[in-house]
Amino acid sequence: MLDFLGSLERTHMCGDLRAADAGKQVVIMGWVNRRRDHGNLIFLDVRDRSGIVQVVLDRDLVPEGHAKGEAIRPEYVVAAVGKLRLRDALAINPKMPTGEVELETTELLVLNDSKLAPFSPAEEAIANEELRLKYRYVDLRRAEMQRNFWLRHKITLAIRQNLSDQGFLEIETPILTKSTPEGARDFLVPSRVHGGEFYALPQSPQIFKQILMISGFDKYFQIARCFRDEDLRADRQLEFTQVDLEMTFPRQDTVFGVVESFLSAGFAAAGVHLPTPFPRITYDESMRQFGVDKPDLRLPGLTDVRPAFADSDLATLQIDPALPVVALRIPSVGELSRKEREDNHPLFDQKKGAKFIDDFKRLAKGFPEAAAKVRELVAAAESDFVIIVAGDPAHHISASDTKIPGRLSEREIAVYSAAGNFRVELAKKYADRHGAFRVTQDIVDRANPTAWKEAAAPLDGSQAFQPIWVTDFPMFEHDAESNKWVPAHHPFTSPHEQDLDKLFTDPAAVRANCYDLAMNGLELGSGSIRIHRQDVQRQIFQSLGISEEEAKTRFGFFLDALEYGTPPHGGIALGLDRIAMLLAGAPSLREVIAFPKTAKAIDVMVDAPTPVSDLQLRELSLRVNKRS
Ligand code: AMO
Repeated sequence: MLDFLGSLERTHMCGDLRAADAGKQVVIMGWVNRRRDHGNLIFLDVRDRSGIVQVVLDRDLVPEGHAKGEAIRPEYVVAAVGKLRLRDALAINPKMPTGEVELETTELLVLNDSKLAPFSPAEEAIANEELRLKYRYVDLRRAEMQRNFWLRHKITLAIRQNLSDQGFLEIETPILTKSTPEGARDFLVPSRVHGGEFYALPQSPQIFKQILMISGFDKYFQIARCFRDEDLRADRQLEFTQVDLEMTFPRQDTVFGVVESFLSAGFAAAGVHLPTPFPRITYDESMRQFGVDKPDLRLPGLTDVRPAFADSDLATLQIDPALPVVALRIPSVGELSRKEREDNHPLFDQKKGAKFIDDFKRLAKGFPEAAAKVRELVAAAESDFVIIVAGDPAHHISASDTKIPGRLSEREIAVYSAAGNFRVELAKKYADRHGAFRVTQDIVDRANPTAWKEAAAPLDGSQAFQPIWVTDFPMFEHDAESNKWVPAHHPFTSPHEQDLDKLFTDPAAVRANCYDLAMNGLELGSGSIRIHRQDVQRQIFQSLGISEEEAKTRFGFFLDALEYGTPPHGGIALGLDRIAMLLAGAPSLREVIAFPKTAKAIDVMVDAPTPVSDLQLRELSLRVNKRS
């Protein structure tokens, strides 16, 4: 028999109770985390979102409550009334924030029962993620998930407040809209009123925020939901949230200052001090030093070891002498057996026109001086694992290898990126061995909501979180398949003013006035100074092979708006889910999104997507080809 709540009101949250509250009359409500039956005494650990407190049912004191306690099972919902008391010295649990106290119950209400859940929220996450997502309401009860959402809430609140303090105005932009040019596929919504026509869900508020600048709002921001039909990964969901902003008359530095301020405010809300300003690196330099455009600074970068080899060495080793020869070092891995090394080989992207040497013993036999010099150049300790990556002369990638003075050629980029990606893959694989990623655990512990309340000084985040601005990306990328220059960014990104005259003559040399923010090897954000002049915008479309007609159909309204007094403007968007994921120390966005999609793009809890009725289809003027 279940009890009614009646007029009973909660006086305290379970996790807030402390020794100083001993002697107080208390009413707590929550879920039974665990039950221990000691005959005359039944102990219930009662949980709410703040934590857990121990409730004691003493047969002598509350015979009725004790009787109910015998039938109680995990996840039953209860209310307990009583006096908070100090535990006996021997029963104190120093691991629990409420471990010094317990509730001497005088009345117990059983408000609801619960089926036996497929897994217990009192325990660590189970490995079967699909089951976790199907029973998400049970999974979200776990302390870790509760903490993640507290964390996300705190971060969001602090960012919002900081941007408002910096003079930014939060303005909502439409969800039912027209295609946005962010490069992914659109989610389309059929119009009932206009049969055969579709809205698109925004991939970002990009065009609207630019129009808000034309409208004179000066500084806009939005915690914006975005939708992209792309393949899911640990750091990619179909719908996600951006901290999106745009401002009038900015220089690149102005945008950086705004972001550094709100991001460090967000981190501070999670108890982490993030030093500013963030370091900067150009795209070319990032490729040279890390082989990727989102460098992870927690690990050693690539080292140029070309000087270690004589030309004749390279000839014997069948290495292209005109391309970079770099080494990567994964610290503290220890010596790897041949089998272990071979297991790593699939992690190397063979397609890039590069090759690697990971058998140092063999190299040292044939080329003792070069091998010693390489280890010296990369400052390798005994237990560090070193690999050399270089150009493969036998492999000609179909690159138009135009060499622009001062810029990297495509073949150089190919070698660097083969090395850079190998480094990242190996770092991930050996993360637990080299320890560089381990610091994050302190942060995770700190982010516990109870700990926040008691936190003293914020934790120094300079080791665990390493942001870096990446600037001066090329404006165009060469697409080997179509042998065309394609935009590396959305087509409203401004080229560097100095490079405008090269748009048609030398597209590879045009730098974009855009920037990314990377942190720990993850792209956190991306933005640019925009094109504000119609003539330049037209030129860009032309250089991208977008006809005037196509431009008009896709972005006509925006091109019109550009003609009505558009100020110079620029901005950026950061992935809020990714910020929360990093601070939560989580391996996937799914840990910081309440109801995410699986890797197969399914919401297994609500069961979406699903077919719709014929009536609905008819109303929308749609017919579906059934998939076999
Ligand atoms: P971009 O497409 O680079 O730029 O997106 C900005 C940031 O949004 C996050 N993000 C995602 N997070 C989760 N799942 C996804 N599928 C996903 N896609 C992107 C990333 C990324 O860095 N309008 C421009 C910004 C601008 O120029 O102002 C834009 O959307 O953290």
